[in-house]
Amino acid sequence: MTMTELPASLLRTLPGTYYTDPAVFAAEQERIFEQMWFCAVRGSDIATPGAFRTVRVGRESVLVTRNAAGAARAFLNICRHRGAQLCADDSGSVRRTFRCTYHAWAYDLDGKLVAAPNLVKMPDIDRVEYGLNAVHVREWLGYVWVCLAATAPSFTETVQGACEQRLGDLASVERYGIENLTVGRRIRYDVRANWKLIIENFMECYHCATIHPELVHVLPEFAGGYAAQYYVGHGAEFGPDVEGFTVDGSAGTAPIAGIDASQDRRYYAVTIRPQVFLNLVPDHVILHRMYPLAADRTVVECDWLYPHEVVAEGRDLSRSVELFDRVNRQDFDACERCQPGMASRAYAGGGVLVPSEHHIAGFHDWLRTRLAG
Ligand code: FES
Ligand code: FE
Repeated sequence: MTMTELPASLLRTLPGTYYTDPAVFAAEQERIFEQMWFCAVRGSDIATPGAFRTVRVGRESVLVTRNAAGAARAFLNICRHRGAQLCADDSGSVRRTFRCTYHAWAYDLDGKLVAAPNLVKMPDIDRVEYGLNAVHVREWLGYVWVCLAATAPSFTETVQGACEQRLGDLASVERYGIENLTVGRRIRYDVRANWKLIIENFMECYHCATIHPELVHVLPEFAGGYAAQYYVGHGAEFGPDVEGFTVDGSAGTAPIAGIDASQDRRYYAVTIRPQVFLNLVPDHVILHRMYPLAADRTVVECDWLYPHEVVAEGRDLSRSVELFDRVNRQDFDACERCQPGMASRAYAGGGVLVPSEHHIAGFHDWLRTRLAG
């Protein structure tokens, strides 16, 4: 579809209750976040056997760790004895076992029950049967993705497929070697807004000219308001006076080896439903993970990833980090300004989508289908 073929009639958004009603949020947790692949942690956050992070996925706390062989493992963070939360900390490290602080049941790094006081007097306890509840795990792009569904959807079709559809082929993302990049900076944003406002904002660029002066300077075509994400394979080109993807358009750091000449001086944005935004620029990659916590609260963890040597040599990353940190704050401020409006009678029937935002209607169709399923 070209810009001249955009639909003439305006489309309506979701009604306000979709952004405020705890029942809608509960349905989203059950039918979206607990069913789909969820990008949980950066692999380097659990660099060694026994290192762990706990993250919220839907209604569950999930414990993500590495076993003795170095393979990622993920479990529901619940002791099988009486249901105590197994790990209370957000992150940490154990030597060989996770030990419950209530009655001291201990589980190895593969989730098997390996010790329990007086277990010899309870021969009927099957140590595998009463091991931790494992969830599906995949590592891709250097991130650990988990899925809580009994049968996980195809990772190839859903996660990798989203990149393929957006960029035209999977090689266009794999060339960046994201799994080998190093986290140069991580910022965690606690956003008082529904996760869908954040996704909708990320998908459109109608707001760019108003709230993102620095981004529009670097990517002048964003002033037109058309979302680069809609056009398959399109990357927004840097302005002629721009040297790098930095807050003032000055030069960035060394480009990532292996990217294609066509990817130089361009910015690509990909939405991987339901909770990942991926941004590709020549010298770094920015990956956002959303953790929806309530109908009106979403934590966003954003990683700036660079070639290892760029971080190891202590290169100045401040100007490249500052660009998207500003963009994030500008976006999240806008989302927080909309959140109270979702509960207003003025928005009971929803709002409208102007033509340049019409692909957001596709997101709404997808959401309705998931919730009905
Ligand atoms: Fe964990 Fe009893 S609840 S050992
Ligand atoms: Fe924005």
